[in-house]
Amino acid sequence: MEFLSDKPLLITDTILRDAHQSQAATRMTIGDMLPALEILDSVGYYSLECWGGATFDACMRFLNEDPWERLRTIRKHVKHTKLQMLFRGQNILGYKHYADDVVDAFCRKSIENGIDIIRIFDALNDVRNLEQAIRSTRKYGGEVEAAMSYTVSPIHNEDYFVKLARELEEMGASAICIKDMANLLLPMDAYSLIKRLKETVSVPIHLHTHNTTGTGDMVNLMAAIAGVDIVDTALSPLANGTAQPATESLAATLKGTPRDPGLSQEAMSQAAAHFRKVAQRLKDAGSLDPKVLSVDTNTLIYQVPGGMLSNLISQLKQAGKEDKYYEVLAEVPRVRKDFGYPPLVTPTSQIVGTQAVMNVVVGKYKAFPKESKALLRGEYGAVPGTVNEEVRALAGIRPEEVITCRPADRLEPELEKYKEEFKDVAKSEEDVLSLALFPQVAAKFLAVRDAEKAPEAARQTDPNAVRELYVEFKG
Ligand code: CO
Repeated sequence: MEFLSDKPLLITDTILRDAHQSQAATRMTIGDMLPALEILDSVGYYSLECWGGATFDACMRFLNEDPWERLRTIRKHVKHTKLQMLFRGQNILGYKHYADDVVDAFCRKSIENGIDIIRIFDALNDVRNLEQAIRSTRKYGGEVEAAMSYTVSPIHNEDYFVKLARELEEMGASAICIKDMANLLLPMDAYSLIKRLKETVSVPIHLHTHNTTGTGDMVNLMAAIAGVDIVDTALSPLANGTAQPATESLAATLKGTPRDPGLSQEAMSQAAAHFRKVAQRLKDAGSLDPKVLSVDTNTLIYQVPGGMLSNLISQLKQAGKEDKYYEVLAEVPRVRKDFGYPPLVTPTSQIVGTQAVMNVVVGKYKAFPKESKALLRGEYGAVPGTVNEEVRALAGIRPEEVITCRPADRLEPELEKYKEEFKDVAKSEEDVLSLALFPQVAAKFLAVRDAEKAPEAARQTDPNAVRELYVEFKG
């Protein structure tokens, strides 16, 4: 067997973030993590992905936990291994575009509280939406892992991703991530893409895939043979299915080869013994449905992410039109083409999916949800391909209305405004950022947190009153 690299493969374990976000609705608590943090730190990982993505919102919304406090606690117990987070470009961890000064403050605070590596991505791969986060991460001494949202379409071929990777390297990325969130990247294509990336960019290549379609282990193996520098895996108790392939399996596969990751088997089995109990707790609580573990072959056939297919089914059920499922599936690629081939990831997967349902149920482009209009108007950034102008006109958007600049250039600085607005509720700049991203959820959480800390205040603070105060402020 000829490996195109003779360096040990580096491993990022996702057990503290993507594994439970993908399998168990992001419900792992800091209490679930604490007993295993020192053990994880001794495994020999390159990094632990532990923050960002949906964890920030879920901490406050469902677990009554301060996400910043979680990060500081993890940092206190993980002294040697790098900590990594996922960051959605100009959206930070939320769902709208934030001004540059808020992006800057969030990068600074993430690094100050313990993050080493920030993985930054944009749903459309519009690099202008990554600029500020890349600049700020570097400014505060963090490592930038710039991510390419992987998808398959007539324009998303190997040349496209090689060109994008080169651009991201020039922008200051210290590593490039292939973010295959839907497990669409096939093993042979992974080999070929990584081989070319290693020939054209000089920074490390990090592969992130899932095992939704059952190809994840093969993708990681072919990537390792092709010389990928780092891959994401999850410890076995929360591995596979919609999460990452298992760490122990890949480590065993590469044992004794030049690419042996050199992880401590003893430490991994100790940590796994702990997380098996956590997985059982999550199952008992109903957060982990064993259905997420089965192989989803529809994604291989339709090249549509698994989560999007289940959304389509539930939308059709609500409309009483379940019999239209295959018509909608056939409509998805047509809408995607008309909308300029966006990668199908949040939020574009929902936008394209909903439009396809409406086209079939109401009539072809008879109605446009406001998110479709926003995408066609360029509010999310530039789509990778070309928008069908007839469809844009049907949506009532005139050519001169289309936004061609970087969307965040239209936003005035916001940080001082947020500080003023939340000065009575926020106890720190971290709190201000929590409130800026999730106004209602954070206000409710902070009211409970601060009432617990100071029983005095509890008598004066009615959490519902605080919630009402921010109900008008849309996240
Ligand atoms: Co993922």
